Amino acid sequence: MLRLLRNIGQLATCPPDRPQSDAGLVEHAALLIEAGTVAWVGPESDLPEVPADVPVHDCQGGLVIPGLIDCHTHLCFGGWRGDEFALRLAGASYQEIASAGGGILSTVRHTRETSAGELQDKARDVLDQMLALGVTTVEAKSGYGLSPEAERRQLEIYRRLDTEHVIDVVPTVLAAHALPLEYAENRTDFLDQVCEQLLPTVAERDLARFCDVFVEKGAFTLDEGRRVLECARDLGLGLKLHADQLSDGGGALLAAELGAVSAEHLEYAGPEALAALAAAGTVAVSLPLASLYLREPFLDGRAFLEAGVNVAVATDFNPGSAPSFHLPLALTLACLNQGMTPQEALMGATTVAARALRRQDRVGSLVPGHQADLALIDAHDLNHWLYHFRPNACREVFKAGWPVHAAIGD
Ligand code: NIG
Ligand code: FE
Repeated sequence: MLRLLRNIGQLATCPPDRPQSDAGLVEHAALLIEAGTVAWVGPESDLPEVPADVPVHDCQGGLVIPGLIDCHTHLCFGGWRGDEFALRLAGASYQEIASAGGGILSTVRHTRETSAGELQDKARDVLDQMLALGVTTVEAKSGYGLSPEAERRQLEIYRRLDTEHVIDVVPTVLAAHALPLEYAENRTDFLDQVCEQLLPTVAERDLARFCDVFVEKGAFTLDEGRRVLECARDLGLGLKLHADQLSDGGGALLAAELGAVSAEHLEYAGPEALAALAAAGTVAVSLPLASLYLREPFLDGRAFLEAGVNVAVATDFNPGSAPSFHLPLALTLACLNQGMTPQEALMGATTVAARALRRQDRVGSLVPGHQADLALIDAHDLNHWLYHFRPNACREVFKAGWPVHAAIGD
């Protein structure tokens, strides 16, 4: 089955093998899809002859980008935490709220109390809205269950959503996100349970691709993080780390040392972390919406890029530090506050984000052989899209070559 997209004002190919500064822009482009993958892409003037009966899609001079990849979310959770938003605005810190019993543990309570059906419906509704923004792949972390059963329940929801929803859901077990109340006096017992029960079951049932830990004051120490991640690595899971979000705790160095796929947040990572991440090929996942909401410093994306680190951009969607799933807004913030160019920001939510999920050979690029996941944006070029922020500039979305979403009115 062939399909031709023509009259594309600008097309971003986002090749997996180019520097992040080069999004592979093609002006006045066309793109040919065959059996769900990109068969040809280039200037429309160079388009090879195609059979007369091929369905043709007129992109009306719009921008075509690879389907966006949100490579860091906490998609499934019970309740919300608008009360904490008000407390933070009145001066309380994220960590003060957490140590008073709010924060992650409050969402753990709500998640445990909510039925699997309700959790799944709520997460599906978010996926629907993400798809409408042009997002076609989403990483989703557990970490609001914190018991083997409740963590498995979250991961099983992700598995069902991956099957039933157009968006590909890539699950991560965030095994050590916070110390649950029932283990408040028994840190070691909690970590034993993670390493001896939760992770082996997750690996055996193939419930997650990656394991993540939150290394931070008030969460887990470097040694505890190392223990969990080494255990996950031995079980064949890829490694991720919530590192140096609120203080420089050495998390980025640990991620590099363990050869983690990605280190995430990194707002407080020290200068030595940059060289280590570059040498290890670990992707830095920046989360500008979390910086915005917590009123913390933004990651210095320019310094990371200049040190040779790939910088992904994701939402961190969760009920506490980043209650927004608007990835295009995160891209605009990456330009305005992280020193990134529009091309670097887009690469950060396409091929670099795919690298953070080890899928850069399949998705995140519109080059021959890659899956034809793409979004048609109502803008004549990339600069205009990220500069002229709108609630939703996405007009149409294709997944594996099929039209899966069209904005009302198109
Ligand atoms: O990525 N830092 C740890 N975890 C989340 C926040 C989770 C929450 O506040 O519920 C984050 O910011
Ligand atoms: Fe997070």
